[in-house]
Amino acid sequence: MGMHMQRRAVRFGLVGAGFIGRIHGLALQAVNRVFDEATPKAVARILVDADGDLAERQARQLGFETWGTDWRTALDQVDALIIAVPGFMHREIALAALAQGKHILCEKPVGRSAAEAEEIAEAARSSGVTNGVGFTYFRAPLIGHAMDLVDSGRIGSPVSFRGWHCEDYLADGAAPFSWRLDAELAGRCGALGDVGWHILAIARGLCGPIDSLNGLANTAYPVRPAANGVDRRTVENEDWASMLVRFGSGATGSIEASRIAHGRRMDIGFELVCSQGSLVFRGERSNELQLYLADDPVAEGGFRRILINTSHPHYSAFLPAPAHGLGFNDLKTIELHEFLMAIAEGRNLDPDLDESCRLARICEAVLHSSTTGMQVLAPEESHERVSA
Ligand SMILES: NC(=O)c1ccc[n+]([C@@H]2O[C@H](COP(=O)([O-])OP(=O)(O)OC[C@H]3O[C@@H](n4cnc5c(N)ncnc54)[C@H](O)[C@@H]3O)[C@@H](O)[C@H]2O)c1
Repeated sequence: MGMHMQRRAVRFGLVGAGFIGRIHGLALQAVNRVFDEATPKAVARILVDADGDLAERQARQLGFETWGTDWRTALDQVDALIIAVPGFMHREIALAALAQGKHILCEKPVGRSAAEAEEIAEAARSSGVTNGVGFTYFRAPLIGHAMDLVDSGRIGSPVSFRGWHCEDYLADGAAPFSWRLDAELAGRCGALGDVGWHILAIARGLCGPIDSLNGLANTAYPVRPAANGVDRRTVENEDWASMLVRFGSGATGSIEASRIAHGRRMDIGFELVCSQGSLVFRGERSNELQLYLADDPVAEGGFRRILINTSHPHYSAFLPAPAHGLGFNDLKTIELHEFLMAIAEGRNLDPDLDESCRLARICEAVLHSSTTGMQVLAPEESHERVSA
């Protein structure tokens, strides 16, 4: 009989039971089944939502031990807090959790501005706990494989990058106003913060830091019906933005974010051209990666379609056979596994809050460039650029 090792347990509080909160709740259960005992055990301790009925219903369904409506009551019951509420609540919750030495996994975009992201990141640095940010798509095994391929040198070094994250959840100009369009609740950035952050994190993961950019932003539908169906509300952040970027490596690229792209339901993607080949990824086909190798014989040359398999990061934890496919919820399970491993190893999840500061600054630089028509140098560095 072998010794029975006690599996380390991490007690989680989850704040927010909306769209992404529920997915985190599912991941808190799945992570213990999908990953083996090398991963600390996640304990779903308490689910908090300002809507008490929702909190209770979701807590029961998702297997939380208890629930509540005030996030403050969660802090002394947990080791780690997942912050899955709109941006206006991130700062207050994160600073309180960090002051009590709790690990935090915060949803993107962190806070409402670069200034808020910086304040949270600074508090995290001095607390020394583990932090991470919910960059869901960054966890796709084939995006991980794309990064591994670039790191290996197999396709040479990045030359140009074309990335986008386009969705259509506000493509209908008559769709009602919601917190995402309110600068007080979501922040100055609209599509950039909501979807742009995802493709920006991937762009930096593949091509490295951004040295300069030119940006253009537009609110295509500047007035929308209020939620009450009677009044009209002015939209306070952009529906669409794009940037031309120069990476520190010398590679160049373009990155687009849209919430108004009719027909694009979940279209995060990129084409990366390197000196010895190219990679193409489309989020609506996230179990495929297209690879072109420049040294293939001309007669057989062309893009090959790689289907997800056990050689790609984390896939074998879910499935033994190739091409059966993972989905969005699985990516959140992978994210939680990596967060638990980071806690066990006393480091941050990658990307972390410091990365969130760089992304927030880049997005504000895009708005600044769009307003002034000027190129922004060193957009990842802290600047007094955008007035509140
Ligand atoms: N990583 C991703 O793929 C992804 C996807 C969707 C949303 N998000 C991010 O997650 C966050 C939440 O977005 P969502 O789509 O889940 O929003 P949502 O509107 O669906 O849910 C938000 C929930 O927060 C609750 N809430 C608001 N204020 C609260 C408070 N003070 N205390 C407790 N609960 C409170 C609301 O009652 C609601 O249930 C945002 O930052 C968003 O950008 C990330």
